[in-house]
Amino acid sequence: MPFLSQKRLDAEIGALIPEITALRHTLHRHPDIRYEEHWTSDCIAGYLAQAGIHVRRGYAGGTGLVGEIGPDDGPIIALRADMDGLELQEITGLTYASEIPGHMHACGHDGHMAMLCGAAVVLARHAEKLRCRVRFIFQPGEEMGAGGALMVKEGVLDGVAAVFGMHGWPEFPEGTIALKPGYAMAGADWFSITVQGKGCHAAAPDSGIDPIVAAAHVVLSLQSIVSRELNPCEPAVVSVGRLSAGTATNIIPDRAELCGTIRTLSPEMQEKARAAVTRIAHGTAAAYGAKASVSFDSNSYAPLYNDPDMCAYAKQAVQAALGNHAFREVDSPSMAAEDFAFYLRQVAGAFLWLGIRRPGGDPPPLHSPRFDFNDAVLPAGIQVWISLAGAFPKTD
Ligand code: NI
Repeated sequence: MPFLSQKRLDAEIGALIPEITALRHTLHRHPDIRYEEHWTSDCIAGYLAQAGIHVRRGYAGGTGLVGEIGPDDGPIIALRADMDGLELQEITGLTYASEIPGHMHACGHDGHMAMLCGAAVVLARHAEKLRCRVRFIFQPGEEMGAGGALMVKEGVLDGVAAVFGMHGWPEFPEGTIALKPGYAMAGADWFSITVQGKGCHAAAPDSGIDPIVAAAHVVLSLQSIVSRELNPCEPAVVSVGRLSAGTATNIIPDRAELCGTIRTLSPEMQEKARAAVTRIAHGTAAAYGAKASVSFDSNSYAPLYNDPDMCAYAKQAVQAALGNHAFREVDSPSMAAEDFAFYLRQVAGAFLWLGIRRPGGDPPPLHSPRFDFNDAVLPAGIQVWISLAGAFPKTD
């Protein structure tokens, strides 16, 4: 028996949309960055409590929160939204633009929170019809904070049988869901390399050790990792994003610094690429008489793995909610990183891309100062969440 008739669901969600849209705009006005989501956390906790949902707070440094509904003895399905904004000055000119200078919801996490709140309200109204418990996870620090890893460590997946995440995706048409079974998003590492030379007069390079020349060779040598050391059938990226050294035209400085990122699509590739960056930096610097030290940010992100069985379940749920045409399975992974990977390392599940591209539109990309989540997809996102929870556990 379906959780609710589609007609009834459409009516309930339709009636809720003005409130959820207003909530989304309110959240957009108040973008809190990683681990500073205090206002946001209070706002979401208040909203869920008003709907009669029991909320546990204080996760991941304080701002993470978890709501839960459903029968005591059912299996648990977890649905997750991320909460943080970015350090970016918004230039959308929207009436509900960010009121915090230099902070912005430029990744659509305001939309993610609003959609999960909407689903929670509808599901809570009909909790007696659920065959599972539904855990709503609101997670801080997705952007470079690996908040997902903290939430998992603090037990938000305890007892959970399946976990799902959803992210607005400008590449796909609004109101559709795209899903890539298997490894779907890259693991990310961030590295820093210091090349220590010996400063001297630029007119007498033989009296010192030039760290700039050595660092330049390190940058070029790092490019051979993807082309020569990793499986050519698996995508990977090594990019240097910053290179700095020196103060004047006539001085060879003491040292050069560079930093960058590695993106890989399996734990094996991630390990191999990390080791190669370290070895090549040390060896290349040494070839020029300099010395490299290499460090990696402790917040590395794991590659994101969508469980094939859970993808099949999600496909059914999406098609039941939005129609067959709204679902597409895709072959290409994204080389962006996403800390939902930490949930999927612990419990089988899937990460859904919710299309937000307006008809005929060329939307600003995620993390652009012009980005805004597309309100037109709020009903579709809520429908998908409800369908995933309402049909769980699969009975046939
Ligand atoms: Ni995001």
